[in-house]
Amino acid sequence: MRTTILQIKEMKQKGKKIPMLTAYDYATAKIIDQAGVPLILVGDSLGTVILGYDSTIPVTMDVMIHHTKAVVRGTAQAMIIGDMPFMTYHASISEALHNAARFMQEAGAQAVKLEGGVTMAETVKRIVDCGIPVMGHIGLTPQSVHQLGGHKVQGKTQESAARLIKDACALDEAGAFAVVLEAVPTPLARIITQKISVPTIGIGAGPFCDGQVQVVSDMLGLFTDFVPKHAKQYVRLADSIKQAVGDYVNEVQAGAFPTEKQSFTMDEALLAGLEEEAKQ
Ligand code: KIV
Repeated sequence: MRTTILQIKEMKQKGKKIPMLTAYDYATAKIIDQAGVPLILVGDSLGTVILGYDSTIPVTMDVMIHHTKAVVRGTAQAMIIGDMPFMTYHASISEALHNAARFMQEAGAQAVKLEGGVTMAETVKRIVDCGIPVMGHIGLTPQSVHQLGGHKVQGKTQESAARLIKDACALDEAGAFAVVLEAVPTPLARIITQKISVPTIGIGAGPFCDGQVQVVSDMLGLFTDFVPKHAKQYVRLADSIKQAVGDYVNEVQAGAFPTEKQSFTMDEALLAGLEEEAKQ
């Protein structure tokens, strides 16, 4: 049985912290799921950390569906949340409903996430009314990076802090089951966490959020272009992979790979016949 939104809301009430990670493929999702992460986000961050774009803006619904299907296939316990990509929920509510439904019907996700607060509250409500759980996302919203003028911490002025509190309350009232706070000062994230009824999930929002989310490629040290300030590398897999690939290259060049262990035998008599024929 996968994690439910009721369990997630209950974790806030009981003061139990909520770990969440992104995943983009079958094999990694399987490991994360088996390690006991209750929420897995197929984030549109895959645009940068998997596909090599310089932002999340080029990511399309079809790409998200493709990766979400793989993550769903690899998991049995976690709730899988599909991240709605740039401009797939803005033009009209009916388009937002259609795309949210694709995550559920085509990809097998259990929830969707979208960016925006007050301006997205009506859309969130309509999706939730259709029976689709929605996670909100406010603060630094990467799909609006050009509008925000870069990847900057949000809520540092009186005006923008007040706006973020309003955004969080609007999402709570609209029926979002949780709200991601990205790049928000720790004390402001604490105020929002105390104010809203549903869990806050922080990324660069300090320790007082109800849960934390990390981009898996950052925390495993797989993405090496840069390490965001909010990320902690628990391991440096890129170094281990480079070492392993270097060993492979050296062994192939030296004729040390493959050995008998990685090779196949065949019937001796058949072989003798073949060798005889090859001589003619
Ligand atoms: O796309 C993503 O990975 C995200 C998380 C950083 C919350 O939106």
